Amino acid sequence: MIPVILSGGSGTRLWPLSRALHPKQFIKLLDDVSLFQGTLERLRGLSTGALAPIIVSNEAHRFIVAEQCRAIDVNPQAILLEPVGRNTAPAIAAAAIAATAKGDDPILLVLAADHAIKDIPAFEASIRAGQPAAEAGKLVTFGIVPTAAETGYGYIRVGEPTTTMRPIAVEAFVEKPNSETAQEYVSGGRHLWNSGMFMFKASVILAELEQHCPAVLAAARAAFDAAKTDLDFIRLDNAQFSASPDDSIDYAVMEKTDKAMVVPMDAGWSDVGAWGSVWATLDRDESNNALKGDVITANVTNSYIHAEHRLVAGLGLDNMVIVETSDAVMVAPMDRVQDVKKLVDQLKAKK
Ligand code: GDD
Ligand code: MG
Repeated sequence: MIPVILSGGSGTRLWPLSRALHPKQFIKLLDDVSLFQGTLERLRGLSTGALAPIIVSNEAHRFIVAEQCRAIDVNPQAILLEPVGRNTAPAIAAAAIAATAKGDDPILLVLAADHAIKDIPAFEASIRAGQPAAEAGKLVTFGIVPTAAETGYGYIRVGEPTTTMRPIAVEAFVEKPNSETAQEYVSGGRHLWNSGMFMFKASVILAELEQHCPAVLAAARAAFDAAKTDLDFIRLDNAQFSASPDDSIDYAVMEKTDKAMVVPMDAGWSDVGAWGSVWATLDRDESNNALKGDVITANVTNSYIHAEHRLVAGLGLDNMVIVETSDAVMVAPMDRVQDVKKLVDQLKAKK
């Protein structure tokens, strides 16, 4: 089994800590290692046996990737560099092409670089449960038993109880519903969160890409064929890779295929997508606050306050997020943090 680590995302909802040149997967957000390093460390000693990973990342982050691998003694079998982000479908296509370049047909375990998982044995149990289905030619995805009406996640509808620990047939994928629909899904007990983790044979995903989004596959193949190897990096060809449609694997393949199976996973998972999930993932004090750095508070409850460069003092606050860095301070109510993206869009427009 070859892990494929997707680490080309931009993590805009975690601004101002997550930046274009240093996005959230490379930040020490929760522990003394980054989310990217945490993803790699989780694979050590996996009883299903994981080979050296393939990492797919943006060119701009190549030295961070190499350095963070070195720091935890991980030696990837390939670091594929994308000249531009074209979302997860071409990234996975390129990884599958690289994995089969020498005639092998391994099982790929596709993982996002920006997830937090608390219960490693449960994570491992789901992977083990999905492996036979992947070997039999299915596209296995891992579905998280939902605990809240999250609108930042895709959902997977199944026809069976979501508590079994074996692959079950997927009825439908629904990407990021509104909060009313999400509420119905969570109370209905027939939906799982789409974790964005997948397992399939390389040949199977290549055939599915060919069938459902041939333009993505063709661009990834041409970019790989014209790639330049430079130090430890495989630089995908700019012109060819840029020609790929921008498409996520969810839209490009998972919503269209009839080979999808989902294995439920109950492993204390979070995609740490926005400040609310950072707060929820961290240990909190008796006032339900998570405070990082030089922070003092009085009558503050249910809040996340993060100070990087100076003292931050909060008084009489509830349900707030404050993140202070050397050049920006962001303040928002906890229930609005999904919209931080709008601030980043404004900043980009100003440039
Ligand atoms: N290499 C590469 N290139 N990686 C990418 C790219 C890209 O162009 N775009 C995104 N990624 C990586 C991100 O770094 C992240 O690890 C993963 O792919 C998923 O991308 P996100 O941008 O974080 O997607 P999302 O969180 O909005 O939604 C997806 O994940 C959710 C769970 O975390 C969807 O699959 C949802 O359905 C799902 O619930
Ligand atoms: Mg994400």
